[in-house]
Amino acid sequence: MLRLGSLNLALPFFQAPLSGYSDYAMRHLAKLYGAPLTFAGVIIDKSAVHPKIIRKPAFRPGDDEHPIGAQIMGTESDTMAKAAKALVDTGYDLIDLNFACPAPKVLRGGRGGHLMNEPKTAIEICRRVRESVDCPVIMKLRIGFDDTPASIDNFWQIASSAPDAGIDAIVVHGRYVLQKFTGSANWDIFPQLKSTIPKMTIIGSGDLFDAKTISERFANTGVDGIVIARGAVGNPWIFRDLAALFSGKPIPPPPTLEEVGMAILEHLELVCRLYDPNRAVRYLRKFIVGYCKHHPERKKALKAILAAKDKSQLEDAVKWWYKI
Ligand SMILES: Cc1cc2nc3c(=O)[nH]c(=O)nc-3n(C[C@H](O)[C@H](O)[C@H](O)COP(=O)(O)O)c2cc1C
Repeated sequence: MLRLGSLNLALPFFQAPLSGYSDYAMRHLAKLYGAPLTFAGVIIDKSAVHPKIIRKPAFRPGDDEHPIGAQIMGTESDTMAKAAKALVDTGYDLIDLNFACPAPKVLRGGRGGHLMNEPKTAIEICRRVRESVDCPVIMKLRIGFDDTPASIDNFWQIASSAPDAGIDAIVVHGRYVLQKFTGSANWDIFPQLKSTIPKMTIIGSGDLFDAKTISERFANTGVDGIVIARGAVGNPWIFRDLAALFSGKPIPPPPTLEEVGMAILEHLELVCRLYDPNRAVRYLRKFIVGYCKHHPERKKALKAILAAKDKSQLEDAVKWWYKI
């Protein structure tokens, strides 16, 4: 079980907010395969407070999606608090505060990972958001802006202020902001984090691509939960495997060719309901790279499927290469 304030998940993992990926289609599949909680991609606070933007269907969670989390990022505690309230009013069940994003544009705007340099502002944002909503509030950190002692000190300041600021759980991606996605995620920090703030729910993130590695991370680090990010792109079976693992069952065999093909077709149907069909076909390409990873003729299958120009060509290519 994973406790996120008033929200108790039966299984200790969830699908990360993934900007540009975790739309309704990805979230629906994640849920279908066993994720007990999913997140929409990060939303800028100023967009969330804009009534015209927040009323768009893309921002509204589906009735079949609960519990579902929204993640926000911004620079200013009042706007963040208003954004959190607007998203809860829109139907989200949980708010995540992003102090981790390393994108240059985000850092230039003083948002996301930049706030790892500004512990006072980050903590003030936590407090104000906590006051503005009744639902669980969690935050996402990296292990520092960079590896300087001042930066590491800022990390510990933010993390150890979380209980007083009313934060219900901390998600930590074990890289410095400036590292972006290079090198390997640091999981050595978690035992220290757990012993420094023992009552806080601590969730680990970074380089989690298969159930076996994840069970080792659990056994060795003392985290209360983990979050699946890149490992779920074109691979909803990771949630099926984790659901089995954490229910004490054997990890199921990998999906058959036909099962993978059927999942791609289902994903295609879902994205065609969200976007116009041509855009949907282009959009699905980044997921197809993930789906094709274990195809016995990966290069050929990928090339043929990615060459599809419209929905019917894509369906034909998937049916051919996945023997449906
Ligand atoms: C394409 C992409 C989009 C992401 N979007 C978000 C986001 O919106 N919010 C967030 O907190 N993290 C985001 N992340 C970071 C992931 O949640 C996760 O912390 C990171 O990828 C490390 O986990 P992994 O190595 O298992 O993928 C994103 C990562 C990627 C690759």
